[in-house]
Amino acid sequence: MSIYVFDAYGTLFDVHAAIAKFNAEAGPDGARMSEIWRGKQLEYTWTLTLAGHYTEFWTLTERALDFALARVPSVPKALKQRLLDAYFKLDAFPDARAALRALKQKGDKTGILSNGSPNMLKGAVDAAGIGGDLDAVLSVDVLKMFKPRPEVYRLVNEHYRCAAGDVTFVSSNRWDVMAGVSVGFRGLWVNRGKMPDEYLDFPPAKTLADLSSLASSA
Ligand code: 2OP
Repeated sequence: MSIYVFDAYGTLFDVHAAIAKFNAEAGPDGARMSEIWRGKQLEYTWTLTLAGHYTEFWTLTERALDFALARVPSVPKALKQRLLDAYFKLDAFPDARAALRALKQKGDKTGILSNGSPNMLKGAVDAAGIGGDLDAVLSVDVLKMFKPRPEVYRLVNEHYRCAAGDVTFVSSNRWDVMAGVSVGFRGLWVNRGKMPDEYLDFPPAKTLADLSSLASSA
C-alpha cells in the first residue's frame, strides 16, 4: 500500500476551465486574463505568507480575478461572478478521476493537500465527483499559512501517521514539487504545460505528461 497525495488546483482541477466556459464572451484576451488571474492568486499566497499574514484562498482568488480583469479590460467585468461560480465548481482533468480510481482499486491511500479553503475544496471535489476516491482532503487553512511552507506538507505525515518517505506527492506546480521533495516526499511532477525544469536541487522521482500513466508508473 502506498500513499498518494495530490495538489488540487492545476493538478486535479484545471484552473483555466473557468475561462474556457466563457471563451466567446471573454474574447481573444481571455486566456491571458486567466494566466494573470492564476499568477496573482499564487503570488498573493507567497507574499502574504512571507510577510507573516494569512487570507483564505477563496478571498485571494477573488482579489486576483479583480486584478486580472483590471489588467485586461477587453474581458467584460460582467463575467466576474460567473467566472467565480465556475471556479468554485472547477472541472477535474479527465485523467484525474481515472487515476484516483485506479489507485484505490490497487489498495493505495489517496488524498489532497491544497491551498484551497475547506469549503472551496468541497465545492470542487463534489462537483468533480471524486470524493469517493479520496481518503483525505487537507487544507492549509488549519495552519493559516500557504505552500511552500514546510509545515503545510507535514500535515500529511500527521494525518496518515507516516514517514515522509512513505508519501508520493503529485503536483503540476514545480515549486510545489520542490517543497514536497525538500521535506522528504517522493515527488511526481505532472508537467501538463510542457515547461522547462527548474528547482534542480529538488528533482522529482518522475516527471509525467499527465495522470493517465500514474497508477502504472508506481
Ligand atoms: C493548490 O494548493 C497550489 O493552488 C495549488 O491547490
